[in-house]
Amino acid sequence: MADKRVRLAISKGRILNQVASYLSKAGYTNNIAQTTSRELVFNIKNLQILSCKPSDVPKYVELGAADCGIVGSDCIKEANCDIYEPIDLPIGKCKMVLACLKNKKINLKPGINIRIGTKYPNITKEYFLKEGISPEIVFLNGSVELAPITGLADAIVDITETGATIKENNLKIIKNIMDINAKVVVNKTSFRTLNNEIEKIMSSLVKKIKI
Ligand code: PRP
Repeated sequence: MADKRVRLAISKGRILNQVASYLSKAGYTNNIAQTTSRELVFNIKNLQILSCKPSDVPKYVELGAADCGIVGSDCIKEANCDIYEPIDLPIGKCKMVLACLKNKKINLKPGINIRIGTKYPNITKEYFLKEGISPEIVFLNGSVELAPITGLADAIVDITETGATIKENNLKIIKNIMDINAKVVVNKTSFRTLNNEIEKIMSSLVKKIKI
């Protein structure tokens, strides 16, 4: 009997391109990493790949629009969804940091007034709560580094990979908040009903990543 279809939501961009290349090597031949089309759904054998905005992947998986997903641990923590996280992948590595303008001095002490620009309000709140600080949070959708430059915020909580954006915008890292890597996440029902199919795809993917 043919394997049942597995719907896999993947963060579009770097993670999707990397995973697509490894899947090709694992026998799920595709040209997703090379394509310039605006397609969002790719069918390869019994695998259906859904190209999602990173912050949406946990929601697709929790609500069963996807059986499983591959997404950064930053988006998983921020979304706080009811999903399984069975596999850590050694890709998508970066850091969540607190950063401000190079020439600014921020003394992080309990009770201070501080305004933070971020795409990650929940992670930000949790981090500052531990420091005894209740920051004003300005939710931003992107180009977060603009916030301290323009005076919109005192500092930002954002991810950094190469460090280029921080450097080129005259910012400095004040604190490392968390290490990030990509993870496989699975819908709780699909974990039971599609366990063999998901296991087969993920183990062949992981083998190729680890070579
Ligand atoms: C992310 C992040 C930083 C940048 C860091 O932004 O929010 O701005 O990448 O990467 P670097 O350390 O390698 O420079 P993204 O490219 O996702 O775009 P966005 O600003 O529109 O969110």
